[in-house]
Amino acid sequence: MAYNITLIPGDGIGPEVIESARKVIDATGVNISWESVEAGAIAKKNLGTPLPNYAINSIKKNKIVLKGPITTPIGEGFRSVNVTLRQKLDLFANIRPIKSYEGIKSLHDDVDFIIVRENTEDLYSGIEHMVGEDAAESIKIITRKASERICRFAFELARKEGRKKVTLVHKANIMKLSDGLFLKCGKKIAEEYTDIEFEDIIVDAMSMKLVQNPQDYDLIVAPNLYGDILSDLSAGLVGGLGLAPGANIGEDIAIFESVHGSAPDIAGKNIANPISAILSGAMMLKYIGELEAASKVERALANTIKDERKLTADLGGTFGTEQFTEEIISNII
Ligand code: NAI
Ligand code: MG
Repeated sequence: MAYNITLIPGDGIGPEVIESARKVIDATGVNISWESVEAGAIAKKNLGTPLPNYAINSIKKNKIVLKGPITTPIGEGFRSVNVTLRQKLDLFANIRPIKSYEGIKSLHDDVDFIIVRENTEDLYSGIEHMVGEDAAESIKIITRKASERICRFAFELARKEGRKKVTLVHKANIMKLSDGLFLKCGKKIAEEYTDIEFEDIIVDAMSMKLVQNPQDYDLIVAPNLYGDILSDLSAGLVGGLGLAPGANIGEDIAIFESVHGSAPDIAGKNIANPISAILSGAMMLKYIGELEAASKVERALANTIKDERKLTADLGGTFGTEQFTEEIISNII
């Protein structure tokens, strides 16, 4: 059976890194029928809108998306396409695997954990106002529904991925009601998953421990803001954003995409590093149940990057995007 998957090349280096990821995925032998649609600055230019209906319809129909970065126009009255997609499609879970690879300079070896971030509420609700001229308030919203949903998602993912421990991050000692509710929901859900260890930790302590002993963690679940911050901190532990894959997942729709942006400064030069796009593709393969193909991609990538000459320029190597891609494909066995 062929999978129908929506492909959004996106802007800047998007088309280059997405083409690389597509080629590597196809080389695993999984039968995918790609439906390529435009979104972002390119769609704005060609179709007059950054998020055309046919793109949304394709996503709703196929439910699985591999997406390149999209340039957010500044000051043109358009909302970020990424934020719009997350909200329109209720993609409530943001997933960021954090893994160290031999050959890539990183602060720690043997790091391998996943961050699951609640993607819809917390201080990102966008409810802010001035109180007079000299004060401003932002409303932090935590609901039982969203908290239970993300915690259940985290435990299910832990089970699926064979993870042994879930660590919930919060600041319930200060925000007793909002973070307190998030923690309470996590504890309640944890009771249903006795096969998985559960612990909770305050976000500031977590920041220190992640920097000192990231090997101690397996799967981390956090409200939106702490998840946002810890995701980038963790990417920094293992080689930076250029390597980090990600996914935004809802009840039945999942969008897989690199964490980096459209890098207009290096677009079209065949020098972009496609690793995060390729790893996002591997996450996608796992999600659709093609576990063997996902491991093939990860193994081929791990073998390729052991040789530092074969890396792209941002990682100190000499290979271009295409050459690097061909090298990975030749390592797929
Ligand atoms: P950026 O991640 O595009 O670039 C930051 C720096 O990292 C640049 O020097 C760039 O050349 C480099 N870089 C990024 N990815 C790279 C790769 N794969 N290989 C080699 N070098 C790489 O971040 P920036 O400049 O803040 O944003 C550019 C545009 O991307 C903006 O319009 C922003 O809104 C958008 N963006 C889109 C995202 C998405 O669609 N998910 C995420 C982040 C930013
Ligand atoms: Mg962020």
